[in-house]
Amino acid sequence: MLTRLFLPSSSPPPPSSEKHRHIYSRFLNPLRFFGLILANLNDPHSIKILSGVFLFNSSQQDPSSLGSPRLFSFLLERITLVQMAACLMEQLKAQPSWVVLLLVLGSLSLFKVTFALLKWVYVTFLRPAKNLKKYGSWALVTGPTDGIGRSFAFQLARKGLNLVLVGRNPDKLKEVSDAIQAKFGKTQIRNVVVDFAGDLSEGIKRIQEAIEGLDVGVLINNVGISYPYARFFHEVDEQLLKNLIQINVEGTTKVTQAVLPGMLKRKKGAIVNIGSGAAIVIPSDPLYAVYAATKAYIDQFSRCLYVEYKKSGIDVQCQVPLYVATKMASIRKSSFLVPSTDGYARAAMRWIGYEPRCTPYWPHSVLWSLAYSLPESIIDAWRLGFCLGIRKKGQLKESNSKGRLHWRPTGA
Ligand SMILES: NC(=O)c1ccc[n+]([C@@H]2O[C@H](COP(=O)([O-])OP(=O)(O)OC[C@H]3O[C@@H](n4cnc5c(N)ncnc54)[C@H](OP(=O)(O)O)[C@@H]3O)[C@@H](O)[C@H]2O)c1
Repeated sequence: MLTRLFLPSSSPPPPSSEKHRHIYSRFLNPLRFFGLILANLNDPHSIKILSGVFLFNSSQQDPSSLGSPRLFSFLLERITLVQMAACLMEQLKAQPSWVVLLLVLGSLSLFKVTFALLKWVYVTFLRPAKNLKKYGSWALVTGPTDGIGRSFAFQLARKGLNLVLVGRNPDKLKEVSDAIQAKFGKTQIRNVVVDFAGDLSEGIKRIQEAIEGLDVGVLINNVGISYPYARFFHEVDEQLLKNLIQINVEGTTKVTQAVLPGMLKRKKGAIVNIGSGAAIVIPSDPLYAVYAATKAYIDQFSRCLYVEYKKSGIDVQCQVPLYVATKMASIRKSSFLVPSTDGYARAAMRWIGYEPRCTPYWPHSVLWSLAYSLPESIIDAWRLGFCLGIRKKGQLKESNSKGRLHWRPTGA
């Protein structure tokens, strides 16, 4: 220790000219002091004595070196920190190696969790939304006549994009476009009638014709159906099975295929495919097996396209909503955990163009991490019970409505 403490005497004497003396006291002296601190890191006593010598020297030899209070307090802080670090090192050295290993692992996971939390706060609340007009001046939305798709159409118009609306019902399409134009007068809108459960090739041809010459920069693949109510796989009839696969899987795939070439040509675009928590957040969705499987397709399809086209300037994303208050979910009233379609779409707009997979409504992402922290078997069991309840209610409702259909008033 003493040999180390004598190190200062072996260093060159301070320069004589006034200017050099100033530089020396302000910078070189502290720098040398730091070098010494580092050399004595593992010896807290040396550090204390060094600090004392430094402070004494500074005030005795050149009072002007104390004339920089910021530098002085900076150094004092560092001294305390270095001392703490040195003590910690001493303590660690005295511990068995397994304790050190556990401490290192614990600190690493704490760091990881803190980093993830800070990142979540930033991307959820602070990160600015992308300027969607930079992708192109038109957006195409499938299934815009109700639910999430309808709210997306309004939000996109609010951002100044023109719209290609693709739906099956011409009256509903007209009603939506009129409502959008009443609110955002400048929006140009083209309606394309396509029944995704019908002749899909014909429908895709109509979409291709409608977007000819338009710079469609944003595509929202929203159209989708689920079961009327929960049921076992063997209870899914031929028609429902065909529709689920054709609308959810084929529809999204082929609309993407129709819109992508234009984006590739312009080297820019954002594609949003609406997935579902049924396939990604919970480990299984019993009694909705085919629906969940179609959404698992959407998830993987999006992820692969994200990697394929990232370098071509096209941002592909799978959005993963949990329950949203729509007719598909059979939920009328929104709540904190079940947003309205407007609430969902507002949150969703801020995510377009960023991560390949996201759950835009923040309480949903909290539920997602909760679901991840529970054992899968517990969630499976809860979900099965929950869906069996939905099935029972659905069957009851169905048999009641059949009963009403068969009932004929007598004596009329
Ligand atoms: N709501 C939720 O809780 C939830 C959760 C996770 C994921 N999602 C996903 O979000 C997307 C939208 O769901 P949503 O809840 O908003 O559903 P929704 O309220 O039932 O609206 C569905 C939209 O798709 C249209 N559509 C249905 N079948 C069609 C067909 N054969 N051809 C053309 N258009 C058709 C509907 O048209 P009409 O107006 O003519 O019926 C409507 O515009 C779906 O992909 C769904 O899987 C929803």
